[in-house]
Amino acid sequence: MSSNLGQETRLAFAEAKQGQVFRFWDKLNQVEREALVSQANQIDLIELREGLQQALNLDLSEAQSFANIKPTPWISLPADLDSEHCWKDAHEQGEELLRKGRVAAFTVAGGQGTRLGYNGPKGAYPVTPVTKKPLFQVFAEKLKAAEKRYGKNILWFVMTSEANHSQTKEFFNQSNYFGISSSSIRFIQQGMMPAVLETGEIILESPSRIAMNPDGHGGSFRALANSGATEEMIKKGIEIISYFQVDNPLAPFLEPSFLGFHASTGSQMSSRAAPKTGPEEKVGVFCLRNGSLTVIEYSDLPEKLACHMQSDGTLTFKAGNLAMHAIDPSFAHKLGKRTHDCKLPFHAARKKIPTIDEKGNPVSPKKPNGIKLETFVFDALPFAKNPCVIEVSRQDAFSPVKNADGIDSILTCQADQLRKFARWARAVGAEIDTDASGLPSINFEISAGFALDHEEFALRWEEVGKPSILEGTVFT
Ligand code: UTP
Repeated sequence: MSSNLGQETRLAFAEAKQGQVFRFWDKLNQVEREALVSQANQIDLIELREGLQQALNLDLSEAQSFANIKPTPWISLPADLDSEHCWKDAHEQGEELLRKGRVAAFTVAGGQGTRLGYNGPKGAYPVTPVTKKPLFQVFAEKLKAAEKRYGKNILWFVMTSEANHSQTKEFFNQSNYFGISSSSIRFIQQGMMPAVLETGEIILESPSRIAMNPDGHGGSFRALANSGATEEMIKKGIEIISYFQVDNPLAPFLEPSFLGFHASTGSQMSSRAAPKTGPEEKVGVFCLRNGSLTVIEYSDLPEKLACHMQSDGTLTFKAGNLAMHAIDPSFAHKLGKRTHDCKLPFHAARKKIPTIDEKGNPVSPKKPNGIKLETFVFDALPFAKNPCVIEVSRQDAFSPVKNADGIDSILTCQADQLRKFARWARAVGAEIDTDASGLPSINFEISAGFALDHEEFALRWEEVGKPSILEGTVFT
């Protein structure tokens, strides 16, 4: 066995007071040693030290910095003739960008999906009410429908992480790329960060394995830049990255009005928002901090501010972040390359991290024992020129699958899909009984291949002869 294996790495770790990572070295076989060294080599020890320091300081400074926050102005949904004109202009501008092939789709799907607890990539999770199509298929169908409508191929970037990269690729492969040309899809892998104790020591998951987690959805900038994606986009004349999360089948990515507003305001990063359902809703809020657009996570917003009301009875901090953004590829590239003045901060999430005891035996902690370090995509907003927030109708755009049951689970998401299908069908005269929340008493499904929006549904409805029985129907 070569005694020099990983010598430099081990030395660097010892100097950085991380020598404990190799404390079982003498008991490891060659394969285990190689695996551990290769994992350790992925870690940037300086970034880790600085990132943790910053995350812990952020914890302290955030608590003190709520004096300087104000609600943000946003472009609200059309309410009068003037605003209807603005939305129409934005829509036309967005459609023009799509016709010229200036937009790429970008799904972030590298998360661990711990709350859902599904055995496989989240994008493979069956989500539609009748045919149980997986999330990735729902997006693929929207993408294909947009390609057809605008007469252009659209590149689709899918961000994965070490934990699900090969499974995700395999899933697309087995599903024949859902009918999209495989040459239009790019899988890009995000980076990983080691989990640490409060003291900064890296945690071992087993004697030969470091506990690591994906570096957060903010890692998408680095993944886009390091994989060559942003360069490819810039070369191909793509001006907007349409960013959305893998867990929201209603996500209206490639939506023309949003793209149009983003372009016409000269924004480098724009975001969609909807009024929060109440102070307790678990979404971050857009606000101005020291004059800069920023998002404050629900867990960080003091209760007093979360509950604060305006004179009209609406929440003062109501602009809920729905995790849909339009991003300029050059801006993404600059952030991804982390030039000195442009680094996303790390945040500390205290979690239960499976580890080992001093003898190397597995330990499943009952309470949080360590810190996961993550960056957040919305922390890019303060770096962006003219960042812009644009309202979207929540019922049409947002119903994520986060949990195995309860709020934001498959049940609430399927109900929201059904409500949307029912609204479209009732608008064209279909007789459907619904409860007070708009939930239909029947189960049916409308695929994006049939209609991308309610206007198209109205046209296709006539074409298919206004069917009278909808129970179990799949419009495809
Ligand atoms: P969430 O914060 O909901 O995390 O991610 P999650 O990993 O899906 O689920 P939990 O918290 O472990 O239960 C929001 C979106 O950001 C992506 C996720 O895949 C999801 O689309 N994400 C999150 C990444 O792509 N990478 C990350 O490191 C974190």
